[in-house]
Amino acid sequence: MDDLNTLREELMAAVNGATDTAALEEARISALGKKGRLSVMMKGLGAMDPEERKSMGQALNALKTEVADAIESAKTALENAELDAGLDADAVDVTLPVRPQTEGRIHPISQTIDEITAILGEMSFTVAEGPDIEDDWHNFTALNIPPDHPARQEHDTFYLPGEQDGERMVLRTHTSPVQIRTMQNGEPPFRIIVPGRTYRCDYDATHSPMFHQVEGLLIDEAIHMGHLKGCLIEFCRAFFDMDDLPVRFRASYFPFTEPSAEVDIGCTREGGQFRIGHGDDWLEILGCGMVNPKVLENCGIDPVKYQGFAFGMGVERLAMLKYGIPDLRTFYETDLRWLKHYGFSALDMPSMVGGLNR
Ligand code: PHE
Repeated sequence: MDDLNTLREELMAAVNGATDTAALEEARISALGKKGRLSVMMKGLGAMDPEERKSMGQALNALKTEVADAIESAKTALENAELDAGLDADAVDVTLPVRPQTEGRIHPISQTIDEITAILGEMSFTVAEGPDIEDDWHNFTALNIPPDHPARQEHDTFYLPGEQDGERMVLRTHTSPVQIRTMQNGEPPFRIIVPGRTYRCDYDATHSPMFHQVEGLLIDEAIHMGHLKGCLIEFCRAFFDMDDLPVRFRASYFPFTEPSAEVDIGCTREGGQFRIGHGDDWLEILGCGMVNPKVLENCGIDPVKYQGFAFGMGVERLAMLKYGIPDLRTFYETDLRWLKHYGFSALDMPSMVGGLNR
């Protein structure tokens, strides 16, 4: 029995001394495992005489229960402690200041193109593209631009050296050649917009040798000037997010449209302050017109059956007006401070707020 007391003390010391669940498991195996000290003693009972076996058996069983219970409660305590320690180690200090992150900004040109596309996309125009390097025919001739037109002159247009297939190549001076490419390569009806880069020899606060336009072309049967006006009035009001923005069509001239018009929006210029909206002044924002039948013929389209309208707008100009950017040259100076100020978060979706669904 003395032996048993010693054993009891040793086993309990091992169980209570375990500092983690692994050590406790070792203590359990050395006491209760197959070859554990208690198990071995249980096996020894068979060799004892009946009296001794009875008293020893009871004592061993009691000790086994006691040890098993001690292991169980030590296990719970250790597991809780380990869980707490793990949680402490993984804890995040939410009071720490946020690390500064450099977030990219959407350039106002991209943002403005996205906005224009969103509005005209709602009117079921789809986006078409064409090459920046055009041939003379697509950029000028097919668009009914006469040989002596100022746009064709060397000092207005960038010509590439040499010729390709007998034609002078130019950096396209507008997105209108994509009208031609679209009509040549498909069958009417057409309803496209063309955002893209354009090039002219010009450089000051409102002109850049490279700039962006969005062209529009709609060709179908029975299209008239009313469709053109409805579409562009709606566009202007959605783009500037102003339900009652005054929009006026002023007669103009483009060789590729007949009749042609320039679109003005209402504004005020009081005391040097410029504001879009109601006022006694007008500001030109885009060119448009009914597609000249000669242009349709140049593309192999029957102008008796089909007609339509086209328009072209300068992206930088629209962005400057909408977002109050005073100098066009700053668009291309790649100054990160400028981009931070005038740029847009990637999370700002192109705004349709107050747009077409009024
Ligand atoms: N291409 C013209 C320009 O660059 C704009 C325009 C496009 C006008 C389509 C009428 C129709 O000025």
